[in-house]
Amino acid sequence: MSRSQERAAGRAGGKVILLGEHAVVYGRPAIAAGLPDGAVARAQLAPPEQGTTLAVSPWNVQVRPDPEAASSLARAFAALVAAAGYAERAIRVEAEVALPGGSGLGSSAALGVAVLRAIDAVFGRARNDSELLEILLAWERVFHGQPSGVDGALAIAGGLGWYVRGQPLEPIAARRPLLLVVGDSGEPCSTRVTVGEVARQRERNPERMDATFDAIAAIVRNGRLAIEHGDHVALGQLMDMNQSLLAGMMVSTPTLEEMIGAARAAGALGAKLTGGGGGGCMIALAADEAAAANVERALLSMGKRAFVTRVGERSP
Ligand code: PMV
Repeated sequence: MSRSQERAAGRAGGKVILLGEHAVVYGRPAIAAGLPDGAVARAQLAPPEQGTTLAVSPWNVQVRPDPEAASSLARAFAALVAAAGYAERAIRVEAEVALPGGSGLGSSAALGVAVLRAIDAVFGRARNDSELLEILLAWERVFHGQPSGVDGALAIAGGLGWYVRGQPLEPIAARRPLLLVVGDSGEPCSTRVTVGEVARQRERNPERMDATFDAIAAIVRNGRLAIEHGDHVALGQLMDMNQSLLAGMMVSTPTLEEMIGAARAAGALGAKLTGGGGGGCMIALAADEAAAANVERALLSMGKRAFVTRVGERSP
């Protein structure tokens, strides 16, 4: 069987933003960590008369690349195959997403990277991280408008990293791994909408918003030091400060605030929303496994989905 007849696979993980969302769109740094779960895609050449298709489970959708389609997935897929140089080929892609969509965990970037890697594998094509990110941004622009690229950078490289728009992801060496509890508010969020709202606030009051972004940048810089020194108490306080500034930017919601309050009351060192906000997910930092289990229980007892993840582990 030739390589093109085989089904080639690609995978990529989701992410959580520890500190710095929204300000990262305006050139400030952010700290983000890859999640083990994300998306897996399988691709193979299709007969030319069948054309190119992308089927995604569990969303139960199948699209053809079409820049004019009503479906954003079809438009994003068209942007990706064009940017990657496959517009003239017929390819069948099947993908599976293991993260809730529209929740701030980077499911769309993970899906895009997994699809691109699977198609590249069919053609035996290798690209470096910045080439992958460039193509992924064409896909992400359809969903997010003006993405900073942080989701894509993490989907491609994983790990724990420092991200500044337009620059390669810089790995951060954590002194100790971080135990995070991720809670899903269940409220759908649109990063495009919250990024647009922040942009409108900045148009109305550029000085106030730039001062907020600078304050977030200072929190992110101190957060990096706290991670490098293993000072999780300080990191938790910085997450709380970041949350206050995000709430001031009107991207938090009453449900997220309630979950963040419950996580702190259950012993979290700090808690904040993660990603675009306006719904979606929050994260809480726990001192140890027992504290993480407590926080997770508190969120589950609110009827929310929650899970514990460990980030910043050194590779063996
Ligand atoms: O909602 P998410 O997971 O796509 O995160 C978006 C992060 C923002 O800073 C709000 C936007 C961006 O492009 O960086």
